Amino acid sequence: MDISHRTVLVVGGTSGIGRGLARRFADAGSTVVVGGRDTSRVDDLETVTIDVTDPDSVLRARDSVLAGHPDLDLVVTMSGVMLLEDLRDPAHFAQAATTIDTNLLGTIRVLDAFTPHLIAQGHGDFLTVTSGIAFTPFPLMATYGASKAAVHAYSESLRAHLAGTGVGVTELVPPAVATAGQEQVNPNALPLDAFLDEVIGLLTRTPTPHEIVVERAQPLRWAERDGHYAELLEQRSQPLSTLPGR
Ligand SMILES: NC(=O)c1ccc[n+]([C@@H]2O[C@H](COP(=O)([O-])OP(=O)(O)OC[C@H]3O[C@@H](n4cnc5c(N)ncnc54)[C@H](OP(=O)(O)O)[C@@H]3O)[C@@H](O)[C@H]2O)c1
Repeated sequence: MDISHRTVLVVGGTSGIGRGLARRFADAGSTVVVGGRDTSRVDDLETVTIDVTDPDSVLRARDSVLAGHPDLDLVVTMSGVMLLEDLRDPAHFAQAATTIDTNLLGTIRVLDAFTPHLIAQGHGDFLTVTSGIAFTPFPLMATYGASKAAVHAYSESLRAHLAGTGVGVTELVPPAVATAGQEQVNPNALPLDAFLDEVIGLLTRTPTPHEIVVERAQPLRWAERDGHYAELLEQRSQPLSTLPGR
């Protein structure tokens, strides 16, 4: 995938991985707009306000971006929340609902909003975002994993639906990256710049891989195939003991 001559919208680009990726595209020469609920954090890129849980907000953002950038040809669905849950306490349902509304339905709202434009244009790409957790769960973030597994399955189907239209679908599968507070709780989280270096290396390969899986994400992505799923899942279940009452 070319990253230098694109017109890009990164929804969920107001912080973390999205913001870093947006910066890489801008530095490579692309025109970039970043979206999120809190655009006040960004002063070096064009922004658009968007709440992916609100259908009207998504359509307003779509109209505003396409009015200014009718040649938009890459949409990144980066928005996501990562919430811890205690499944023994039914009160976790609130986190589950927010997670599905943001990570899964939010992604679908954004994809739906821009699909007609990209098809009519006859070329372009979607970059969806899942996680290693989509493939090997981290039980403290149960619905998060479920939402990302769903986005993986959805991305595979979307690619099939868009075959022959000139619109591609690529899935980014990050491992733990040192953003969104991960740097405080997970000493193994990959530094953002190292992660982005690898992502750009993979993204710019020809043909563009269907999945962008950096080295650190490989064991999670392929745990089942490689026979270490049960062992990894057991390891990844240990942090449940940090929940109150365990
Ligand atoms: N960091 C990791 O270890 C890791 C690992 C695997 C996958 N991922 C995935 O990578 C993506 C980015 O994560 P990150 O680590 O960079 O986290 P982050 O810094 O918290 O970024 C999350 C982004 O999502 C946006 N967002 C959240 N709720 C939104 C909503 N309702 N509407 C619109 N935008 C919304 C936030 O913008 P506003 O707050 O401005 O709305 C922000 O730009 C997420 O999908 C995450 O699940 C992260």
